[in-house]
Amino acid sequence: MKCVLLAGGSGTRLAPLTDGFSKHLVRVGQRTLLEHALSDLEAGGVDEVCVVLGETGATAIRDHLRESDQFDLEVRYAVQGAARGVADAISHAEPFVGDEPFLVYLGDNLFGPSLEPFVRGFAATEDGVGLCLRRVDDPTRFGVPVFESGSLQDIVEKPADPPSEYAVTGLYGFPPAVFDHIERLEPSDRGELEVTDAIRSLLDAGRSAHVHRFDGWWVDAGTPDGLLTANRRVLAGSGGSGPAAATDAVGADADSGLGEGVRVRAPVSVGAGVEVGNGTELGPNVTLDADVVVGSEARISDSIVLSGATVADGTSVTESIVAPGARVTSPLRGEVYR
Ligand code: DAU
Repeated sequence: MKCVLLAGGSGTRLAPLTDGFSKHLVRVGQRTLLEHALSDLEAGGVDEVCVVLGETGATAIRDHLRESDQFDLEVRYAVQGAARGVADAISHAEPFVGDEPFLVYLGDNLFGPSLEPFVRGFAATEDGVGLCLRRVDDPTRFGVPVFESGSLQDIVEKPADPPSEYAVTGLYGFPPAVFDHIERLEPSDRGELEVTDAIRSLLDAGRSAHVHRFDGWWVDAGTPDGLLTANRRVLAGSGGSGPAAATDAVGADADSGLGEGVRVRAPVSVGAGVEVGNGTELGPNVTLDADVVVGSEARISDSIVLSGATVADGTSVTESIVAPGARVTSPLRGEVYR
């Protein structure tokens, strides 16, 4: 099955991290969001992927996926450019899709267990729409399904008063006819072509819906909270990785670049080329991307520190996301720092 993987958009909810940097390249554990997506799609039965690129980070994404040759997937690209909405992004993949039903995966989403049951169920529907729903505490941030007598009637985008306790997650199945429906859409109040409107249009035209209720964990990592939740979930599953994983006390180690008396509270993921100074405390729930430098007597917990960033001696970083190459010299708590 083919899948369209969206990696455009403007990432405003993660500013200033996303000024000139794509959120899809954030590393969560040992993999970037895009690598997690490709890995889950491959395991779910997908063999061809079209990555839709936006204005931010397009070249970096191509370079990253070229270097990350761990997947047995055929990867192609389409360029959306400016962020005109999820449905608009999907429309750019029409030449890739051809005339078969296909999947769409929003690149800032992360799913725990296998996507295979959803993919199998959608593949068995005749030209219908596939929706993957997850029960959530606060549906107001998502597309929300409307049911009548148990059957799906409609979807509403980010409703103030949610009609059900489900969110529509960022995994969809579409018939190729969706492209005609997208062509007829008008921009929403936020000026975007909404995937929700494309789905409503298909349902109004009498298409059936394959509704899958996903009961594993699912995270929309498009916000600071979402990214840190994704980090906790991924690390909890892997126990962390890299030289410092699952270790309670790590001494000087020439290979890992960990100084003397570094304390690691698992789970922690340490990328290649990371250096940590003497007496620093790492964890729990910390991802240090490649070439991060942490000074001595520093303290990092519940955070993601991206490639080449520096955390100065004695500095504490908690519940924060540090942009690539940033220099942290004073304490951070609950911040996106650039
Ligand atoms: O995460 C699930 C939610 O995703 C659904 O419940 C909503 O119905 C759906 O509209 C979408 O809402 P968001 O507001 O979270 O969408 P966001 O703008 O974050 O974009 C989702 C992904 O699509 C993200 O990886 C960026 C990409 N994208 C987005 C836009 C607006 C593009 O590639 N191009 C775009 O123009």
